[in-house]
This record gives sequence, C-alpha cells and structure tokens, in this order.
Amino acid sequence: MPSASAGTAPDESARTPDCEPQALPLPQRGHPSPIALSHARTVFLRADPIRTVIAWILDAMRVDFDPAAVGPTAFYRFLTSVVVPRPIAWVSTITPDGAVENLAPHSFFSIASTDPPIVQFTSIGRKDSLRNVEDTGEFVVNFSPEPMLHLIRDTATDFPRTVSEFNTAGIEREPSRCVRPSRVAAAPVVLECRSHTTLRMGNSTLVFGRVFFAAVHEEYLLNGRPDAGRLRPLTKLGGDEWGTLGEILHLNRIPYEEPQPD
Ligand SMILES: Cc1cc2nc3c(=O)[nH]c(=O)nc-3n(C[C@H](O)[C@H](O)[C@H](O)COP(=O)(O)O)c2cc1C
Repeated sequence: MPSASAGTAPDESARTPDCEPQALPLPQRGHPSPIALSHARTVFLRADPIRTVIAWILDAMRVDFDPAAVGPTAFYRFLTSVVVPRPIAWVSTITPDGAVENLAPHSFFSIASTDPPIVQFTSIGRKDSLRNVEDTGEFVVNFSPEPMLHLIRDTATDFPRTVSEFNTAGIEREPSRCVRPSRVAAAPVVLECRSHTTLRMGNSTLVFGRVFFAAVHEEYLLNGRPDAGRLRPLTKLGGDEWGTLGEILHLNRIPYEEPQPD
C-alpha cells in the first residue's frame, strides 16, 4: 500500500487495468460495471450461485462514480455528500505580525491521536488559516454550536489575508491561555493547539495540532463531561446543507469473552 507523504504524487501503479477511468461511461444506472461483472463471474465459479446472482442484481442497481472519469470537482461533491455529517472546527489563527486574527470553518476535521492529544484539519488549497499556522505554529479549534450558524457561515467568505473575520462578522473574542490566536468567546469548547505536523496530500494540506489546553463553558458540562445534547454541535453535509444533532442513542459495546470449556 503506497503511503502518502509531503509532496508525493499519487502512485499511478496502484491503478489496475480494471480501474481504467475510460472504461466506464459514468454515472450509469441499471448496468453492472465491468469490475462488478468480472468479480461476479469469478465468485460464481467458486461459490453459491444463488447468492452470486443476488449480488449481481444488487450490483446492477448501483450508480457508479469513478473519480477519474467524473473529475475532481464532481468527485469532491460526491465525497462531501457521503462523508456526512462532519463536525466543524472553527479555526482561529493569527498573522505572524499579530495584526490580523483569522477565523474560518473547516469540516475536514477529526481526532488524530489521543495520547498525545492531536487533532487535525485539512486545508483544501492554500487558505489563510493554513498560511498562518505554517508561519506561527499555532491555532485554536472553536466548537460550532447551533445558535452560531449564521456567524460561522459569515466567516467562510474568502476575504484577503489582511481582513479579520472576527471583525467582519462581529464576533467577540477572548484571549487564549497558551497560544497567541484568540478564542471565540461564545464557543462552548476551545482547543488551543500548536502545530505538530503538516502533510501535503494532493490539492490539500493536513494540519495536525497538539492540544496544549482545552476549556469548556460550565453550562455545557453534565456530570463533569461535555454533554452532546447541551453542546448542540452543527455539522456540515453536502453542498450548502448543514446538520444539527439528531436523536442521541445509548448503546454499550459488548466485550469479547473467551469461550469457556463445558
Ligand atoms: C461549514 C464549512 C466547512 C468548511 N470546511 C472546509 C474545510 O474543511 N477545508 C477547507 O479548506 N475549506 C473549508 N471551508 C471553506 C473555508 O471556510 C473558506 O474557504 C474560508 O474562506 C477559508 O478561510 P481562510 O482563507 O481565512 O482560511 C468550509 C466552509 C464551510 C462553510
């Protein structure tokens, strides 16, 4: 499996003949793809024919999206419509001279490591947030509650680097404890981060930040823990769609138990 690293091109040798993009006029409905057909034929020879035919019929009901055939923009829309819901990191950064405080939402966001605690956001292209992190090594992840929907949207405009979204959107800030970029005063949770690694991958750069300090407004805690129902996090879906937290389900994990001898 090829591993991605800074500045490497995608490994085209990983593309098998079955994956040639030109082979599939896409999207197409109602016909099994060549890959599905050859796979189904192989399985048919080896396994239960009834199950194989069922799998074949189910395959025929899919619409195929080959990234190379549909192109990067269409596949971006596809990916961001299926990898949903995505939590939104509202990232604050500062220019190296300290003159401009930047704020922008990033929904390509996740936990990368728990010990040490590292979170990660992705800049698609080279945005001001990324440049500021590269130049200063610091950022704050502010969490995005439902009541701040319009304010968050207002900070996603592609202003020049000299313009502060805190100012244009009229967002109150408060000083951070460990880093220079300010926090959003009304954010229920803030993570103060120092850049750990940046990783260029295709058209994007992944920014990994070690969390040096976290703070939660007291009203969002329940029994000492941040409570999802109180946090009311916003999420990003495909296109211009946003999401809110749905029903919260409680379900415990089942521990593995060694079979006991009779
Ligand atoms: C909810 C939401 C999530 C977004 N997520 C991302 C993302 O993950 N990565 C990205 O590069 N842009 C994302 N954007 C677009 C950026 O916020 C937008 O390009 C912004 O202008 C970047 O600001 P900056 O140049 O000050 O960093 C998102 C926009 C919205 C509204």
